[in-house]
Amino acid sequence: MVHVSQTPVLALRGIFKRFGAVQVLSGVDLEVHAGEVVALVGDNGAGKSTLVKTIAGVHPIDEGVIEWEGERVEIQRPHDSQNLGVATVYQDLALCDNLDVVANLFLGREIKKGGVLDEVAMEKRAKDLLSTLSIRIPSVRIPVAALSGGQRQVVAIARALVGDPKIVILDEPTAALGVEQTAQVLDLVERLREQGLGVILISHNMADVKAVADTVAVLRLGRNNGTFPVATTTHEEIIAAITGATDNAVTRRQARNAEVAK
Ligand SMILES: Nc1ncnc2c1ncn2[C@@H]1O[C@H](COP(=O)(O)OP(=O)(O)OP(=O)(O)O)[C@@H](O)[C@H]1O
Ligand SMILES: [Mg+2]
Repeated sequence: MVHVSQTPVLALRGIFKRFGAVQVLSGVDLEVHAGEVVALVGDNGAGKSTLVKTIAGVHPIDEGVIEWEGERVEIQRPHDSQNLGVATVYQDLALCDNLDVVANLFLGREIKKGGVLDEVAMEKRAKDLLSTLSIRIPSVRIPVAALSGGQRQVVAIARALVGDPKIVILDEPTAALGVEQTAQVLDLVERLREQGLGVILISHNMADVKAVADTVAVLRLGRNNGTFPVATTTHEEIIAAITGATDNAVTRRQARNAEVAK
């Protein structure tokens, strides 16, 4: 994907964040363009969730600049982030099990007519949204408790899209899913990109990263440790950036395999 001259939808420049005495983010940069999937990777505690929470307005930054479509903006609270057009899907989905798919999609944003819920309009909008995203759910009127993990994940992502965001943040959306369900969620990420959304995908799974991301941004100990185009970067190069070492089990095995292949 080429976006040399394109202004990123979201740009973070020199972000610092401290919790008490712990410096969690130290001068982090990140750019996300329209129609780009950026995988944010790094070891446990590298600062990935904290970084996306600064974008989501959960943890305001201490220092640094956030730009939205080239203009400097302030994100102090979740409302600021949502108003700009950022939607965040956290791992603990926060769906209401006893409510059906339509109710979950419109929770807190119900469509009303004459002061009462317009169920017909919401059901139509829900079906339209799910079909645009090629999401297949047995019925939009069943409680989400009756859905599979993968279906719940896609409903949670679809719910984030109800407010027409430009950037969608997914914090480990496939961590708890099986093969089939992971494929379903990755398909949906592809669909978001096709629609011109920018996606930040936090993942520990290199296969997922390779499958859907355009760019991979590595965080290590709260700092940038490389931004790579996925198409031309090997699994081993990404692992090396994550661990900060070029000598590890994965690269050694690759070297052995290369020897055997000779
Ligand atoms: N609210 C908080 N208060 C104090 N320290 C925090 C808080 N949130 C995160 N931290 C610390 O910040 C560091 C980065 O945590 P963060 O959750 O951002 O890492 P991560 O990259 O998302 O890791 P993981 O892959 O395990 O999810 C950790 O050392 C963590 O203990
Ligand atoms: Mg995390």
